[in-house]
Amino acid sequence: MPELVDRFGRKHTYLRISVTDRCNLRCLYCMPEEGVTFMDQERLLSYPEIVEVVEAAAERGISKLRITGGEPLVRPDLDRLIARLSAIRGIEEIALTTNGLLLAQQAKKLKEAGLKRVNISLDTLDPVRFRFIARRGHLEKVLEGVAAAAEAGLSPIKLNCVLLKGINEDEIASFLRMSFEQPLHVRFIEYMPIGHDDAGWRNHYLPLSRVLETAKESGYELERAAEAPRGSGPSEDWRIRGGAGSFGLIHPISDHFCQNCNRLRLTADGHIKPCLYWMDELNVRPALGSKEALNALFDRAMAIKPENHEMAALLAGEAQSRAPTERRMSQIGG
Ligand code: GTP
Ligand code: 5AD
Ligand code: SF4
Repeated sequence: MPELVDRFGRKHTYLRISVTDRCNLRCLYCMPEEGVTFMDQERLLSYPEIVEVVEAAAERGISKLRITGGEPLVRPDLDRLIARLSAIRGIEEIALTTNGLLLAQQAKKLKEAGLKRVNISLDTLDPVRFRFIARRGHLEKVLEGVAAAAEAGLSPIKLNCVLLKGINEDEIASFLRMSFEQPLHVRFIEYMPIGHDDAGWRNHYLPLSRVLETAKESGYELERAAEAPRGSGPSEDWRIRGGAGSFGLIHPISDHFCQNCNRLRLTADGHIKPCLYWMDELNVRPALGSKEALNALFDRAMAIKPENHEMAALLAGEAQSRAPTERRMSQIGG
């Protein structure tokens, strides 16, 4: 079967699968406070349907899967899906991105089902600020989740920190210190306007050059992480010389990485999204039951995949060449 190569010569080996749009938090960069209208449960792809799509994708060279949400751990029996996915020939790694709240109770069974590692969202180390950013939940539960993931061997553990100007930028130094003292990988992420170009984004977007400046001000000597922790995403990896861990920079806006894009997305309601940013989607439901139709859909995804996003143009107040997605981040999974 031919590999998934798009018009720009980019080979696709990574599929991000959103299993639900629901979440037990309401992070201000991801969802409005009142939440979004959640999908009816019957619109979600069932586990056998997801397995069918992945079987077809694996024959086309997809070898890495990432399970996302909303919050993936709120979907019942996720370990059963992971067990089925990990049995598919060609799938070499299954990872999960989670807010960590339910991880302490699920880490062990997820590992047993075949999950290799987790990326956990952690935007602040201050419990009061946590409630401001996430609007629900408790920091302590997330930290318990991080500890449980380490205990279960779901490593290397990566912590995802979305930087928000005026909200958590004063914690850059603490997160850097954490990456020095602990065998963790901290990733600083630029705030993206997915499905919402609003004042909140414009006011709180912070370019990641701030992280390198803070490291310099703290007197740290930095080196590019020679052996970056396993990953297939867009992170640029660094370490503080002599540190136990490392850190990464994910800077889609100040310096985009679309030229290396290797990923496709499957939404919880069964749409292939060739790009996180744009409106284009392909409905997989009509193709279920036919390997040929699924293959035609993957070919179509390669044919329409755009070269890059236009978030920097948006920031500069310039017009977009066409319509960005109306889905919020919680409805795509990052
Ligand atoms: P690794 O496999 O560990 O490298 O993970 P990852 O970085 O691919 O996944 P994760 O879910 O942890 O995503 C980290 C951040 O990168 C999130 O903010 C995602 O939205 C963002 N991200 C991942 N893929 C893309 C992409 O293709 N384009 C853009 N613009 N952002 C992305
Ligand atoms: N911009 C950047 N990253 C985001 N995430 C969620 N919303 C945004 C956004 N608007 C991150 C989460 C999670 C990952 C899947 O995406 O923190 O770690
Ligand atoms: Fe790929 Fe689109 Fe992300 Fe660029 S914005 S890296 S093209 S998914």
